[in-house]
Amino acid sequence: MHTADLFADDNTASPLPERVELGAQSVLLRGFALPVADGLLSAVASVSAGAPFRQMVTPGGYTMSVTLTNCGALGWITDRRGYRYARQDPLTGAAWPPMPDVIRDLGRAAARAAGFDGFDADACLINRYLPGTKMSLHQDKDERDMRQPIVSVSLGIPAIFQFGGLQRSDPTQRVPLIHGDVVVWGGVDRLRFHGVLPVKTAHHPIVGDERLNITLRMAG
Ligand code: SIN
Ligand code: FE2
Repeated sequence: MHTADLFADDNTASPLPERVELGAQSVLLRGFALPVADGLLSAVASVSAGAPFRQMVTPGGYTMSVTLTNCGALGWITDRRGYRYARQDPLTGAAWPPMPDVIRDLGRAAARAAGFDGFDADACLINRYLPGTKMSLHQDKDERDMRQPIVSVSLGIPAIFQFGGLQRSDPTQRVPLIHGDVVVWGGVDRLRFHGVLPVKTAHHPIVGDERLNITLRMAG
């Protein structure tokens, strides 16, 4: 065998792009969270020890398929009264667990890498996707200041992120997300519809048979 043959695969395989532009002010930062992934997973475990994952009901009466929890000063919640941010966990009546530095710092760094300086999240939503769960197309519009972006971190098994336009009926891009990927959208793209297709059964060597999504926002 020639030496060249040993490297044939490397020559033909194209490396994953580090940045995938999804819109004028939206970017997928491929693997951006990988260096701190273990720290993020420990942080999620400690948050969920104090504020457990639970299902919530939409104002329209549908039970969301994902389970969720929050950390930071404000937590995103939904019930029959509406979508909103709350300082207390409705399950325990206590404040949400403080936001671990590893999460806050990653959010700041990812926002900066996407062109948004001064991002300091006060709200961190953590969604847990088991196989078959999904997130229907929606806009993030419960935050006070729309000039600040959304930072969304994927951990665990893969998922297909749908990234649409400013109208629900606009076509959507299908963006495969894997462990360590971070998507940031803001500015002119801040109100773009997005969602997650039903997650396929898979196994991740560290996280197991689930996907975790950490969404950071400046909500207050
Ligand atoms: C969300 O929009 O709240 C979650 C997005 C994701 O799970 O990737
Ligand atoms: Fe969202």
